[in-house]
Amino acid sequence: MIKSDFGLFGLGVMGKSLSRNLAQKGFKISLFNRHVSDVEVDVAKHFKEAHPELKTAEAFDDIEAFVASLASPKKIMLMVNAGKTIDIVIDSLLPFLSENDIIIDGGNSNYKRTKERFTYLQAKGIEFIGTGVSGGEEGALKGPSIMPSGTKDAYNNVAKYLETIAAKDKNNLPCCTYIGPEGSGQFIKMVHNGIEYVEMQLLAEVATILKHKGKNPEEIANTLDSFKITADSYLLEITSNILRKKEGDSWLVEKILDKAGNKGTGNWATIASAELGVPNTLIASALFARYISFYKDERVQLYNQFTKKSVSRLNVDDKDLLNAYQFARTINHYQGFKLIHEASKELNWNLNLSEIARIWTNGCIIRSSLMEDLVAVFKETNDVLTSATIANNIIGCKPAIKRVVSDCVLSDVPTPALSEALQFFNGITTQNSSANIIQAQRDYFGAHTYQRIDDASGKFHHTNWIS
Ligand code: 6PG
Repeated sequence: MIKSDFGLFGLGVMGKSLSRNLAQKGFKISLFNRHVSDVEVDVAKHFKEAHPELKTAEAFDDIEAFVASLASPKKIMLMVNAGKTIDIVIDSLLPFLSENDIIIDGGNSNYKRTKERFTYLQAKGIEFIGTGVSGGEEGALKGPSIMPSGTKDAYNNVAKYLETIAAKDKNNLPCCTYIGPEGSGQFIKMVHNGIEYVEMQLLAEVATILKHKGKNPEEIANTLDSFKITADSYLLEITSNILRKKEGDSWLVEKILDKAGNKGTGNWATIASAELGVPNTLIASALFARYISFYKDERVQLYNQFTKKSVSRLNVDDKDLLNAYQFARTINHYQGFKLIHEASKELNWNLNLSEIARIWTNGCIIRSSLMEDLVAVFKETNDVLTSATIANNIIGCKPAIKRVVSDCVLSDVPTPALSEALQFFNGITTQNSSANIIQAQRDYFGAHTYQRIDDASGKFHHTNWIS
């Protein structure tokens, strides 16, 4: 048997799509899926039989035979559930691996766990690559955005495969690049998902505002389509498609229960922001908007108790809405990339923001015309708001977001992400903030000390406030 170039472990939705993508690009691959009596039986074999491009692939449900089918150094990509399963799978592979073999975790794993796994496997001479993969089922098949981290040597051994199956940017370069050490690939995928949460929330808020203006889903979709000229993105496009979808005579979107789920990456991004001391307020607000949505019974009960008297038809015009949306999206990307930059400094990852923006211009969920612009912006600066073009856009859009947010406040329409974008911008552009009062309060009750603006030495002072 000719040995395979690459092994795919776990044939869930993403594993299947990536396997087909690899096979379509001409790589000889081995496929593994576990055997679970009556539930998962001959999954790899049946999958191979169902797809002509997998003709030369080898299918297994036995780990030893699967590993033995791979050429050395063996390259095995895990597409299994993030969490404990990854550790179980790694331990089940280890007896059959040799020095310099490479395990790639392509799931949404926590970046700290990736570092631990990297260290664990390094001690055994095994390379470990943690990689973000974005694009969902279709992206994985046609070309995802791939964000691998680990050692550069290990990356060089798998670059051919990952870069070939990745989406291509507008210059036909792969939307896959070596990100950095440890769990940096999964860290940036976590931030990608945080940005994704906010973009989704902003679109949901925009659609809700348009609904309050009296538009039906088709009319809302038409307005969103008109936004594409200046604010095109994959998420805008799918939201428009979603709004147009009908089931018989009804709009499907109006039948979907308003409780948003999550799998944890937005939660981790919020925790990482807090741990690193980065004010990523929009990711938190989008995450907590999902949590609020989950309290459906309580919302219904409180709605009846606090019936909103002032809900009226909104007067916001479409141009203001577009500008407000653009303002908030810019703040979202500012905050997301700031989080990556601060993590990079803190953890000595030396991440390249322009390259990260570039591999997010295609294949991934947050691809957009704004992301294309950011590739150039990050060649000049690490801070989005210091770019003259971006700053001009923000200045131009600010009056609109003020009108939109205040109109929504007056009409009791919740817009947590739009509002937070404005609040954050006002906060980050405030020269003298209210934090002097906080410092005085801390010193008053806890003798926590404070610095003085009339003492340039930076010395910490304490006052006996009561005497
Ligand atoms: C992607 C997506 C993908 C997945 C998220 C959804 O980039 O392809 O982000 O990773 O859709 O995990 O996360 P939630 O279930 O938390 O919304």
